[in-house]
Amino acid sequence: MKDKQIEKLIKAEEQRQKKVINLIPSENYVSKDVLLAIGSIFDNKYAEGYPRARYYGGQTNTDKLEELCQERALKLFKLPKGPPGGWAVNVQPLSGSPANLAVYVALAPVGSKIMGLPLSSGGHLTHGQKVSFTGKVWTQVPIVLDPKTELVDYKKMKEDAAREKPAVIVVGFTAYPRVVDFRKCREAADACGAYLMVDMSHFAGLVAGGAYPSPFEYADVVTSTTHKTLRGPRGALIFSKRDERGIDKKIDRAIFPGLQGGPHMGQIAGIAVALKEDASPAFKKYAKQVVKNARALAAELAKLGWRIISGGTDSHLVLMDTWMGGKGISGKEAEALLEKNGIICNKNTIPGETRSPFDPSGIRLGTPAETTRGRKEKDFISIARRIDKILRGKK
Ligand SMILES: Cc1ncc(COP(=O)(O)O)c(C=O)c1O
Repeated sequence: MKDKQIEKLIKAEEQRQKKVINLIPSENYVSKDVLLAIGSIFDNKYAEGYPRARYYGGQTNTDKLEELCQERALKLFKLPKGPPGGWAVNVQPLSGSPANLAVYVALAPVGSKIMGLPLSSGGHLTHGQKVSFTGKVWTQVPIVLDPKTELVDYKKMKEDAAREKPAVIVVGFTAYPRVVDFRKCREAADACGAYLMVDMSHFAGLVAGGAYPSPFEYADVVTSTTHKTLRGPRGALIFSKRDERGIDKKIDRAIFPGLQGGPHMGQIAGIAVALKEDASPAFKKYAKQVVKNARALAAELAKLGWRIISGGTDSHLVLMDTWMGGKGISGKEAEALLEKNGIICNKNTIPGETRSPFDPSGIRLGTPAETTRGRKEKDFISIARRIDKILRGKK
């Protein structure tokens, strides 16, 4: 590389990534092929529009690439193309946040309501949080957790939906360790005529690998980032049901020309590579191991006396109370202590949060990245013991 300053930073980051134990649930390590594809000459090409309907010439290869990526996305989640009764997928969203915004732009009139889980309970900013644009244009109707179980209160969700009549109900969270009951979410959507949108960003790879329930039977729209458990490059997908409501067409228009210009074709090449890898038997094994590892991590931490939110996990992530469980370590302090000792995680709010999002009461731990590196249950038991020792010793 001619640019030595950047080369030095890339090498330093490579070393950092190799050295640490990465427990950030939204991160992963992509294959060399994915990196090759995103760094390919597809990045040179402008391709505004969609296959066979572009605003620039020279699309022989980009059209084939985008259609192949769409095909692989539908196949991975066993979705028929239709119509009618099938699914469409838009592979152009630049990332998860613009993907979610595009769905609201397409389906929720400006000023209407979106029902979503607040950030402090494990939702994502783009689920209508006030500091996000999604909370300024639309008003969030909160999904409420049962304070005892720390799980979604589906009965209340349905009652609140029937009363508040949100245009869209968005489920699928950023710090919620348990499976979501998509059938009950559908009932809430039907109670008020809302679209049911599932944001499976966090658990999409687990769905692909058969290690988490699939939302497709119940949802109208499913969004997902491609860079978390799906183990692809940064990007996103929007799946939509193809029927007389024309959701897919509305979403395509919301992405382009509504919110974006030219798609990042190099990124789409990388996503296509990852989607093929995700369809392999090895990936199925990986997804199941991710969940087994998270369960082992949660169980060992609980054994060591830490309060685990909802008592455990069904997924790739564990939420741990470092403050209210009587330990008196804030999430920020815990994150810093662990980083000093080579373990990377992130501070996180926990249900019923009493502190601030900048210095909350817990940490979020995840297993996808270290499972990619081949770690198994016994490794996560030792990681739990290390975490315990570091936090108790406040080293
Ligand atoms: C559930 C969920 N949706 C959307 C996003 C946004 O994705 P991005 O950071 O790619 O914009 C995230 C990111 O963490 C997420 O957890």
